[in-house]
Amino acid sequence: MAQQIDLLIHNIGTLVTMRGTPGPRKGSEMSEVGAIPNGAIAVSGGLIAAVGTEADVRTALEGAAIATEYDAEGLLATPGLIDPHTHLVHGGSREHELALKLQGASYLEILAQGGGILSTVRATRKASEDELFRQAKRSLDTMLEYGVTTAEAKSGYGLTLEDEIKQLRVAHRLNQVHPVQLVSTFMGAHMVPEEYKGRADEYVQLLIEEMLPEVKRQGLAEFCDAFCEHGVFTVKQTERLLAAAKSLGFSVKLHADEIEPIGGAELAGKLGCVSAEHLLAASDSGLEAMQRAGVIAVCLPATSFNLRLTNHARARRMIELGLAVALATDYNPGSSPTENIQLAMTLACLNLGMTPEEIITAVTINAAYAIGRGDRAGSLEVGKQADIVVFNAPNLAYLPYHFGINHVNTVVKLGRIVVS
Ligand code: NIG
Ligand code: FE
Repeated sequence: MAQQIDLLIHNIGTLVTMRGTPGPRKGSEMSEVGAIPNGAIAVSGGLIAAVGTEADVRTALEGAAIATEYDAEGLLATPGLIDPHTHLVHGGSREHELALKLQGASYLEILAQGGGILSTVRATRKASEDELFRQAKRSLDTMLEYGVTTAEAKSGYGLTLEDEIKQLRVAHRLNQVHPVQLVSTFMGAHMVPEEYKGRADEYVQLLIEEMLPEVKRQGLAEFCDAFCEHGVFTVKQTERLLAAAKSLGFSVKLHADEIEPIGGAELAGKLGCVSAEHLLAASDSGLEAMQRAGVIAVCLPATSFNLRLTNHARARRMIELGLAVALATDYNPGSSPTENIQLAMTLACLNLGMTPEEIITAVTINAAYAIGRGDRAGSLEVGKQADIVVFNAPNLAYLPYHFGINHVNTVVKLGRIVVS
């Protein structure tokens, strides 16, 4: 029987495949993007059936029945973008904090006054599951329009078992109905809730004894994450929690050394976290510990921009040390109220000094590995998911260069055209 091809995307001016040996791309490997001029991609059953130059793909498909041909008009195509760090599900918004910020209040000052994360906790607790679903769906629609085909979604604005489960259920439901595939992270250790003020150890105990086992039992999250920061959770508390999460079978990640260098990166190395995020203040020895343990560094340049910080994650140093770097929006209502990963890509270029090749690596294959999806997403290779973006761009450098606009022309998710 003739091979059945559902979709053939042809006339791709530059096809960035990210093909290579399995595993995140570390250090200088981040510059190898597997670009093919005059490319084509054939899709069958939601997966990639053939990829290469158009001439090679057409030869491979000889005799195949092709249902739909799509002309990419000489544009740039890449793997679907992956946003590996978002706080997608939350109630309300925090534009009222802008005035405080303009008066010079810092993120931790607003938080210490009971605002910040805690104000979103109040709004999220008040919201019904359906309200949260509607709000998160709008954001997920935006992410898709900007080329994101897989994203991570953290809980962490409930901080009671019931309210954390409510958030995780929203992500679970969205995952069943929305083209963007979600990977869920339990982040009950996002903040010490008001009712536990001054009793962080007791709250950590509650997380370990009640919340983690129940989230696991319901199968609502693959990862567990914690905000290890001065005034939030100490290194010791974070270690206790994440060690317990690991023993229950969660993969672990960490908000580490965002504002103050308290040893979060070192802890991520010690625990063998899949990833550590933020890392603006991470020390060289912390980064080296991560490198030795194969922890992926997830940089969040939209957050440092939005917090009006003058320092940024030291992506160049990370790459020099041989770390795998991924990029994400950190979409959340406080420190990074944007779903726009293309903006994060521009900021990674201008503020972190990353090259266009390193940037696309960071939002595709390395982002996939940062959320445990490297085996099926993040690169365009035979047998992997047919998640593809065609950009209104002549080449890779054009994406971070021409900034602030949406470059997406077409998005294909699991072989289906979902944005055009
Ligand atoms: O990744 N740093 C901690 N958590 C989020 C911010 C959450 C918020 O402000 O609502 C972050 O930046
Ligand atoms: Fe975050």
